[in-house]
Amino acid sequence: MLILGIESSCDETAAAVVRDGREILSSVIASQIDLHRPWGGVVPELASREHLAKIEPVVQQALDEARISRTDVDAIAVTQGPGLIGSLLVGVCYAKAFAWALDIPLVGINHIEGHVYSVAFENPAVEYPALALIVSGGHTNIFHVPEEGKYKIVSRTRDDAAGEAFDKVSKMLGLGYPGGPIIEKLALEGDAGRTKFPRAKISDGRPDLSFSGLKTAVSRFVKEQGIEPLQNGDAPTQEIKDLAASFQTAVVSALVDTLEKLAVELHPKTLIVAGGVACNTALRLSAESAAERLGVPVYFPSKHLSTDNAAMIAGAGYFHLRNGERADETMTADITLRLQNVDVEQLKGKARYRT
Ligand code: KG4
Ligand code: ZN
Repeated sequence: MLILGIESSCDETAAAVVRDGREILSSVIASQIDLHRPWGGVVPELASREHLAKIEPVVQQALDEARISRTDVDAIAVTQGPGLIGSLLVGVCYAKAFAWALDIPLVGINHIEGHVYSVAFENPAVEYPALALIVSGGHTNIFHVPEEGKYKIVSRTRDDAAGEAFDKVSKMLGLGYPGGPIIEKLALEGDAGRTKFPRAKISDGRPDLSFSGLKTAVSRFVKEQGIEPLQNGDAPTQEIKDLAASFQTAVVSALVDTLEKLAVELHPKTLIVAGGVACNTALRLSAESAAERLGVPVYFPSKHLSTDNAAMIAGAGYFHLRNGERADETMTADITLRLQNVDVEQLKGKARYRT
């Protein structure tokens, strides 16, 4: 089955052709990073307009690189949510029109589930139960996946996502956008032991995460030490490199400690670490050490598949299409889409956190 995947939930316009859920024939990503950089973050209106301009050429390039024509596509999988509404609508409307014109099946995919499937291409098949840490600019969750397609949130951030914390700290220090790769690079030359920041955890006994306290601690430290944010072109000082390393260590250890603690409880057969922050080598090394201690494999996507892409959406789409799921003409973008589908009844009426 040849699936055309389409992703436009945030600031990447992406299309991919995937055969039978495992083989990527093409994966094209038009990143908008340069467009949003001057604003230090994604500007939703600019993002939607750029998706409109890019969706057609990106899909065409994905078909060309896969050496297929439109009529060879068997089905379409498109990101339905969560994300920015204007951005999502571009992909969803395009996908609906494409599927309707060719009279082929369409499925709407949860973007976070896409990240879970980003490990499906370059690793052995996932064995269930699995434990999946999904860390990106918009999301930080650990899902227990008892079987394929079933998800229960066992840890979540109470405030900022981990990638968002990287981006905000980077902005605070005048380092640029997106913050993750810049902080990672500086951290390589920094001393992580120089400052001990509080671990980004919740103290009420739940295995949840919190990054806003860490961000405040960094901000306070910057003021107390009189650290000046860099101006354009300034070389980063050793003080800033040490700060980057200390901050990165605080984020990575909170994520991996929580993952490991939950793995000890839940006995997964596979660990999955995915999402934009999974590009981070310190996180990968730390998760690998944890996996070794636990005696289970940990799967990561390659860097191309860690940040937003459409191959992962097609990968998730394959599972849903095989299950006979089909979107009808009423399907539309849904920014409130949630992935948890196990034990949801118990959660009704309880506090809702960002997922
Ligand atoms: O998955 P993604 O492309 O978009 C969302 O769905 O949010 O993730 C983007 C996020 C950004 O916050 C970025 O700073 C972070 O991933 N990121 C990193 C690294 N590369 C990207 N964070 C830490 N270390 C990295 N090397
Ligand atoms: Zn994402």
